[in-house]
Amino acid sequence: MENAIRTAEHNLRIQHRQSDLTAQIGEILNQDRPSAVVWEVGCGHGHFLTAYAAAHPSKRCIGVDITKDRIDRGIRKRDRTKAKNLSFVHADARDFLESLPEHARFSEIFILFPDPWPKRRHHKNRIMQPDFLHAVAKRAGQGTPLCFRTDHEEYFRAAEATLLYHEDWEIVDEPWPFEHATVFQSRAVSHRSLIARRR
Ligand SMILES: C[S@@+](CC[C@H](N)C(=O)[O-])C[C@H]1O[C@@H](n2cnc3c(N)ncnc32)[C@H](O)[C@@H]1O
Repeated sequence: MENAIRTAEHNLRIQHRQSDLTAQIGEILNQDRPSAVVWEVGCGHGHFLTAYAAAHPSKRCIGVDITKDRIDRGIRKRDRTKAKNLSFVHADARDFLESLPEHARFSEIFILFPDPWPKRRHHKNRIMQPDFLHAVAKRAGQGTPLCFRTDHEEYFRAAEATLLYHEDWEIVDEPWPFEHATVFQSRAVSHRSLIARRR
């Protein structure tokens, strides 16, 4: 009985969190219908997306990170630049996906230097999982690019294999669309990139 109550409370907390997120995203997208979103997953302090938004003022850019302090720094950076097309949201990427209003669609997706979870028993925590990529694809238009970059060779190969055999994504040979080093990129000795497009 106690377990059932705990589960119900847990589910209720998730529901509340997602409806708060839906309201927050709805406010960001208020004027844009249908809403095309450039999404950065795990945006850290927002270096990349701030530069991207400045270079693409007509694109609505949203950076999401699970670490509040990083999002707060991104917001301060955005406020300094006064960019109207840039928002940062404190959320888990999966919650964000679940909470996205029905009319919103990704026009570009960036996943830059995600946590590599190097130990085998932690690989399940990696963001580049088939089910996550499937959920992202459901909210992406045909041909939408997903740009992935990492300095972790084994994670790169695992992500490449996942995308290679994924029904929703096709790896393409294209130049990186926009160069601006993230914090982790500037610390990395080297990195590898790949771009996949929504089939
Ligand atoms: C290695 S850092 C890279 C940050 C930034 N992309 C860069 O290159 O400097 C990974 C980031 O992903 C965030 N993160 C990890 N899991 C996440 C999740 N499930 N949803 C959203 N953000 C997540 C972390 O808080 C962290 O800021």
